[in-house]
Parts: sequence; C-alpha cells; structure tokens
Amino acid sequence: MFTVGVLTVSDKGSRGERQDKSGEAIREILSRMDVRIANYGIVPDEKELIVEKLVNWADEDNLDVVITTGGTGLTPRDVTPEATLTVVDRIVPGFAEAMRAESLKKTPHAMLSRAVVGTRGKCLIINLPGSPKAVRECLEVILPALPHAVETLKGQAGECGTSQA
Ligand code: MTE
Repeated sequence: MFTVGVLTVSDKGSRGERQDKSGEAIREILSRMDVRIANYGIVPDEKELIVEKLVNWADEDNLDVVITTGGTGLTPRDVTPEATLTVVDRIVPGFAEAMRAESLKKTPHAMLSRAVVGTRGKCLIINLPGSPKAVRECLEVILPALPHAVETLKGQAGECGTSQA
C-alpha cells in the first residue's frame, strides 16, 4: 500500500470550465490497485502554483507518489515539466522513456509530450500528458514498475532480482 496524489494541471479545469476527466481516469485506474489516493487537486498552468503543490505534497504530506496530468506539450502555457524539474533531486528517465516508446506505437504525437519523472526525497513525481486517452495509455505502461519503484525509494525493497520484481 502506498499513498498517491493526483494533480491535474489545466487552465480550463482550474476555472471549472472543463470536467477533469483525466484526473478521474487516474483515480479510477489506481482504485484497482493497493494504493490510497490521499490528495487531489487542480491548478492552472502556472509554474509557481505547480511547484508549490509538488513541494507541499512531497515534503509536508509525505506522499509516496505524485502523478500530474497535463501541461507537458508545446503550447506556450505548458510548464509542468519545468516545474517538476525545479523540485526533483533525481531524474528517473526510464519511466518517461517507456511511456513515450510505447505511446509512439499508438500515435506519433507521443513525441510531443515532454513529460519527466523524478524523485524529491522519498516521493516519486510522475508527469503524464493531459488527455484521458494518453493517461490510460501511459499509466498502463508504468504501473507494473510502480510498486517496486516506491519500495526501493523508501528503502523497503528486498534483493532486486530474487523475484519477478
Ligand atoms: N501519449 C499517448 N500515449 N497518447 C496520446 O494520445 N497525445 C500526445 C502526447 N502524448 C498522446 C500522448 C499529444 S497530442 C500531446 S500534444 C502531448 O502528449 C502533450 O499533451 P499535454 O500538453 O496535454 O500534456
């Protein structure tokens, strides 16, 4: 069991002008796993506001994982990767590499997502693209590695390589 925060980054969503279907998709998919969704929020595409949430959820609320959705593309307002890179102390490239590699089999537009993944202390911060379809496709790729990632980050994993993990 680990704790997760779901942060939707969307100007329209934050103003209540768009239903947060992507945040809902993440929560729905995670509800089938042994996780507790401890925090949920929507912020506009403002770097400072994204940074504030990530720092607060990692440092104050001690969440194991924070999953963001949205703001990873190329529009002038897309700053989620920049906010994430501001707060992480280590990058975990494999997650983003895997998401993009698998997503490219579905759409060439996958290469437009600049999503990054990294750790802040013992918290794993994961960017996902913004559409519900992309959320489902990307989560499907990374979920099998997530429990072991959290275990190792918390120093709770046994010997790597002794089981399927
Ligand atoms: N990844 C997957 N798996 N499926 C998708 O449909 N859409 C792409 C890409 N990644 C997509 C995807 C598109 S169209 C864009 S513009 C970028 O993610 C960035 O999306 P964002 O700005 O909403 O984060």
